[in-house]
Amino acid sequence: MKKDVISVLDLRADISDILGSALELKKRNDKSGQQLKGRTLGMIFEKSSTRTRVSFEAGMLQLGGHTIYLSQRDSQLGRGETIGDTAKVLSRYVDGIVYRAFSHANMLELARAATVPVINALDDLEHPCQIAADLMTIMERKGSFQGLKLAYIGDGNNVCNSLSLGAAIVGMDFMAATPPEHRPDPGAIASARSIAEKNGAVSEVVTSPQEAARGADVIYTDTWISMGQEDEGREKMRALAPYHVSQELMSMANKGSIFMHCLPAHRGSEVAAEVIDGPQSVVFDQAENRMHAQKAILIKLMAPSAR
Ligand code: CP
Ligand code: NVA
Repeated sequence: MKKDVISVLDLRADISDILGSALELKKRNDKSGQQLKGRTLGMIFEKSSTRTRVSFEAGMLQLGGHTIYLSQRDSQLGRGETIGDTAKVLSRYVDGIVYRAFSHANMLELARAATVPVINALDDLEHPCQIAADLMTIMERKGSFQGLKLAYIGDGNNVCNSLSLGAAIVGMDFMAATPPEHRPDPGAIASARSIAEKNGAVSEVVTSPQEAARGADVIYTDTWISMGQEDEGREKMRALAPYHVSQELMSMANKGSIFMHCLPAHRGSEVAAEVIDGPQSVVFDQAENRMHAQKAILIKLMAPSAR
């Protein structure tokens, strides 16, 4: 049976394996691995990307495999061919599909029709590969998730949804501070709460950024305007202004706390330059770890032993 990674929840059973393997792959730094020799990864991107595209392409090459990049514009998808037909056709050529989509419904449709593993490279609901890299980064910095509090401050978006699920799965306390009108997805909140409870952790959504920052070991934020939401611009920026991560807000967190951001960042909006460019920031480790974490996921889903 093929295995997809559409949600962070799809990593739940394998999270320790994936994090362990990602850390090992990083340490080994082998750029001419053969784990995916002869395997081809199709990559459909409906939205822009720097990190996700390049880390998948470089990672696949380092495992001995190939990638084929398709933007919506260049493929027949842009001229109305259905997602289902596209998935069925690509499944005859490639061994896995990475998809960055505007809509989660399209992501599910592609995964349903494809007969090869599908990996969500971001949609409007989730960004699971980002969270695998983020958990790896926290592991590197803190050694374990035990007793940690992660505070997400800003827009309750795809990254926030996935992060709440990731924190719950590894048993880390999670508190999102968002404006009431920009809360995370209710389904993600409910799942995160129930999984966190089983793992002895808490998952909460509040409106006060100070409440979230107090006692946090990790402060995380993301852009206020996600791709595809450009129309919400000005009004949303106003609602989010009090959620700017300043050095003052950082000082409410625990000693030794780290600052995280999935990037791309907007200095002066969601985060102050002195925070993202300061000593507590681990944002470039996160970006690097995208490649290592995704290599671990690709091996899990596409190596010959995975079939
Ligand atoms: N963090 C992230 O997914 O970045 P890109 O949009 O550059 O891929
Ligand atoms: N929330 C952002 C993340 C970008 C990597 C977006 O969806 O645009």
